[in-house]
Amino acid sequence: MSETTIAKEQTESTSTEETTMSDTTTDSARTDQDSDNDHIQIEGIQKTFDDGAIVACDDVNINIDKGEFVILVGPSGCGKTTTLRCIAGLEEPDKGEIRVGGNDITNLAPKDRNLAFVFQSIALFPHMSVRKNIRFGLDMNTDLKDDEKRRRVEEVAETLGLEEMLDRKPSSLSGGQQQRVSLGRAMVMEPEAFLLDEPFSALDANLRDEMRVEVKKIQRELNTAMVFVTHDQEEAMTLGDKIVVMNDGYVQQIGTPYEIYNDPTNRFVADFIGSPSPNLQKCTVERTDSGLVLSTDVFSVPATDEQAEHLKDRVGETLIYGIRPEYLTITDGDGDFTASLDVIEPLGDRDAIHLSADDMSFSAVTPQGELSRETERVQVNIQTEESWLFEQGGTRIV
Ligand SMILES: Nc1ncnc2c1ncn2[C@@H]1O[C@H](COP(=O)(O)OP(=O)(O)O)[C@@H](O)[C@H]1O
Ligand SMILES: [Mg+2]
Repeated sequence: MSETTIAKEQTESTSTEETTMSDTTTDSARTDQDSDNDHIQIEGIQKTFDDGAIVACDDVNINIDKGEFVILVGPSGCGKTTTLRCIAGLEEPDKGEIRVGGNDITNLAPKDRNLAFVFQSIALFPHMSVRKNIRFGLDMNTDLKDDEKRRRVEEVAETLGLEEMLDRKPSSLSGGQQQRVSLGRAMVMEPEAFLLDEPFSALDANLRDEMRVEVKKIQRELNTAMVFVTHDQEEAMTLGDKIVVMNDGYVQQIGTPYEIYNDPTNRFVADFIGSPSPNLQKCTVERTDSGLVLSTDVFSVPATDEQAEHLKDRVGETLIYGIRPEYLTITDGDGDFTASLDVIEPLGDRDAIHLSADDMSFSAVTPQGELSRETERVQVNIQTEESWLFEQGGTRIV
């Protein structure tokens, strides 16, 4: 990690703070013991606007290990940017504490945090060369020797494949290259962590995929913590070591991509993560001679032993039965229910199958070409051991 103390905010050209030298103020922001517990702790952060009328985020608790790639994901307006801006110091939280390496930085100015913010919009200076754009923060906020600045710029340019472009103006670069310059600007600061707010949202799909791989590679190489905001659940799944799912200002679940996908804590997370979306149907818990049964309008399946254990006091209740499309399988024999085939949606190696039975819609996933368009009705089996049960309010029971 850098010995220098620098402005980490990747300032937009209008900011007045960027001219402040900060090397006298930052010691408090750095950890004394560069040790294992050197990580970011976000504790009980709340931020409201309009005198409390708008709760942008509340009770946000996240621990970020050194070298961890953390994704904040959720629908538009759920509080991702606000949370990130609180970490960066661009918003002052109403409540809560943020620590880096054990030191409370909650009230430090952005430039005094060892954190680099990469904005959603690419804010490069058009009149400056790529080289000058990359070293901008170093020039403004550090008094490093020219040699050191040059070394860092060249090293970062090499990592990002920008060596050949250092003397060009940003306007002659592609969108992806511009976003790399933007990243490079953050990287030369050698921050404690990178904070990125939907950095690829302006790029087209192919380039976005490319940049994802690249940013993950760079993050692994640098082994620096990264907090990355996106509304795109697929981006979250492909990038994150740890995913923080938010909705309505609150954290819904924190886990690895597999935990979030396989074991959602509530209906919101189940529904938000994964495509096609899971099947979620009302069911009632019924007791029969052979044990507990879960009945929807279309199918009745026995509760698994684990489900039965959790449901024994809920006989007669209406719950939500959830199952991912890949756990509905089409069978030649007798299935758990019969459905008509509405649409086949080729996904590449698999097909998404959209079905209906009574007034209920289902999605399944089958190997490529397993069903043909001529198919009208299918028998569907439910892999009950993969199903979830939620209360009607959305909380997961089992
Ligand atoms: N400066 C602000 N003034 C008033 N409301 C704001 C401000 N910034 C964000 N909000 C509101 O806070 C909520 C969360 O916003 P934001 O953090 O930008 O969400 P996201 O990044 O997840 O889309 C939204 O309802 C948004 O309108
Ligand atoms: Mg946002």
